[in-house]
Amino acid sequence: MAPSVLPASSPLLTSEANEKYANVKWEELGFSLIPTDYMHVSKCKQGESFSEGEIVPYGDISISPCAGILNYGQGLFEGLKAYRTENDQIRLFRPDQNALRLQTGADRLCMTSPSADQFVQAVKKTVLANKKWVPPPGKGALYIRPLLIGTGAVLGIASAPEYTFLIYVSPVGNYHTASSGLNLVVDHMYRRAHTGGTGGVKSCTNYSPVVKSLREAKSSGFSDILFLDAATGRNIEEVSTCNIFIAKGNIVSTPPTSGTILPGITRKSICELARDIGYQVQERDVSVEELLEAEEVFCTGTAMVVKAVDTVTFHNKKIKYRTGEEALSTKLHLMLTNIQMGVDEDKKGWMVEI
Ligand code: COI
Repeated sequence: MAPSVLPASSPLLTSEANEKYANVKWEELGFSLIPTDYMHVSKCKQGESFSEGEIVPYGDISISPCAGILNYGQGLFEGLKAYRTENDQIRLFRPDQNALRLQTGADRLCMTSPSADQFVQAVKKTVLANKKWVPPPGKGALYIRPLLIGTGAVLGIASAPEYTFLIYVSPVGNYHTASSGLNLVVDHMYRRAHTGGTGGVKSCTNYSPVVKSLREAKSSGFSDILFLDAATGRNIEEVSTCNIFIAKGNIVSTPPTSGTILPGITRKSICELARDIGYQVQERDVSVEELLEAEEVFCTGTAMVVKAVDTVTFHNKKIKYRTGEEALSTKLHLMLTNIQMGVDEDKKGWMVEI
């Protein structure tokens, strides 16, 4: 596999590469792939244990046309980030949680998964191999994308006979650039997940069905889409790539992770931080009526971090929410990123230095 190099004409490249940093225009980072030098690959036969794997040059992989992932979508992904602190430490945010979530998903999709320790070690090695791609403090983070995919050939419906665990990385900035907050629209046509399905695990198949409604929303000027529950269409569930919260008075509410909502690691961390500063956090069904009456709405996710929602449009009615310096989401965003960036002490033991 040949090392992948950005074309010299890429607007994200600068000629000022040095040993510490790759030649990226850090100020211009968004959320699109910048291929780095190396990736991790390990394989195993179904039911056996994953090998330690190896760090190889980043590049294309070769799999059977009959692979489980290609034919039946037998695959999971994860997302986590590495941050560079002012004193040049590289730190991961709660990688053990991603490892556990991958195992839960693997169980749901009948896949063999790496152990939590193998997962964390592989993430560390991949980040270290790509250290110069971790953005300078305050300029973004290195997004880490672990994939667990059925690469063995399988023609009839069954779990694949072989699995590949792969990790690639890319420096990223903000997922959404709108500084004033997101403009969401409630989807009345499509549903993201249903009871008994795979909405509660990070299956690759959960995401491509979202693209149609996201595309329609964007073409109408919205930043993202808010899905309702499939059973009743009365409760809010999840935004295309992240979890959602509402706040009113001292109460912060978010839909429960009871099968159709992704158990976000940022979601869980924000629940904890909000409780720490005296908010009552309720994980329960949140009706559309409550959404319309909320003072504040915000989204959380690894890619998204914590993002205020400026407006939600529901049946052509646009509701505006509190954003900016006074907003709870601004406070929670700062609390979280200060821990991640080493500005505040990590009293919770969330950060893992590599
Ligand atoms: C993440 O936040 O890591 C996600 O999985 C969102 C991704 C679909 C862009």
